[in-house]
Amino acid sequence: MKKVLITGAKGQLGLALQKELSESEYEQITTDVEELDITNIAQVQAFIKEKQPDIIINCAAYTAVDRCEEKEEQDKVYQINALGPRNLSIAAEEIGAVMVQVSTDYVFDGESKKPYDEFDLPNPQSVYGRSKLAGEEFVKEFCKKHFIVRTAWLYGEGKNFVKTMVSLAKKQVPIKVVNDQFGSPTSARALAAMIGKLIKTSCYGTYHGTCEGVTNWYEFAQEIFKMGGLEVDLSPTTSEEYKSAAKRPKYSVLEKKMYRLNLGETMPHWKEELKIYMANLEE
Ligand SMILES: NC(=O)c1ccc[n+]([C@@H]2O[C@H](COP(=O)([O-])OP(=O)(O)OC[C@H]3O[C@@H](n4cnc5c(N)ncnc54)[C@H](OP(=O)(O)O)[C@@H]3O)[C@@H](O)[C@H]2O)c1
Repeated sequence: MKKVLITGAKGQLGLALQKELSESEYEQITTDVEELDITNIAQVQAFIKEKQPDIIINCAAYTAVDRCEEKEEQDKVYQINALGPRNLSIAAEEIGAVMVQVSTDYVFDGESKKPYDEFDLPNPQSVYGRSKLAGEEFVKEFCKKHFIVRTAWLYGEGKNFVKTMVSLAKKQVPIKVVNDQFGSPTSARALAAMIGKLIKTSCYGTYHGTCEGVTNWYEFAQEIFKMGGLEVDLSPTTSEEYKSAAKRPKYSVLEKKMYRLNLGETMPHWKEELKIYMANLEE
């Protein structure tokens, strides 16, 4: 049986992967910052040498995109998002393990009018995006057998846009959501299933891993309320009006070219996945 180490296991993707990877196929070693702090290279090397995982899936990250812009946070952001995957990659290479690094659509500037594929050049516009791209580059440099999987607009168990919208709706407050940023909402469940398929292959490289379909945050909110049967005073706004600390890509739709070319697979549509998620939220 193969051993898989999941770091950042208490996060949205980490939890979804624990459900996805079957116990008959994988022995799971799950860690979060309390058990294994990915920023500590000595701890990472010792842990990985002792446990000897075949596959390491790094779900740990500093994901608070706006907080990443704060000056006093930036060392921490780079420690977690860049040096963390560097440390894991060095340790993976030392024992011949496969390294899976999860990255983001924020590596792109969002100025394109067509979906980005894995061969388009990144041009991050935020501290979060730059730190995640640095993480990708370290993984490529230090671990031969790697998968880099870029995702976007992720929701699962944990804090996310869907839950925020549902809780605002229940408070019956007017809600304004931007309608000028386009992307693809992606369930942690669908991403975990994709990673589950990738790690069965040796088709290493960089992949895009988002659900199919394109929307903007306003329409995404509309769909959440529709599926949830929630009556809400919702209106659209613009990124210009709704200021945030980090610059977000206007259009960060990701084409899953590598997934299609290597595995002949496609991702489920975002509305299908949202329906499943909403049904389970209500239970
Ligand atoms: N969420 C999104 O919309 C989104 C979009 C694009 C890409 N991604 C990427 O997808 C991946 C998974 O995201 P997610 O939403 O599942 O993240 P998440 O829910 O924020 O989980 C990240 C986990 O990593 C832990 N962590 C933080 N620092 C750590 C450290 N030094 N060592 C070990 N663990 C540490 C966090 O603990 P604490 O909570 O205690 O800090 C948390 O449990 C990340 O690589 C993220 O960059 C996410």
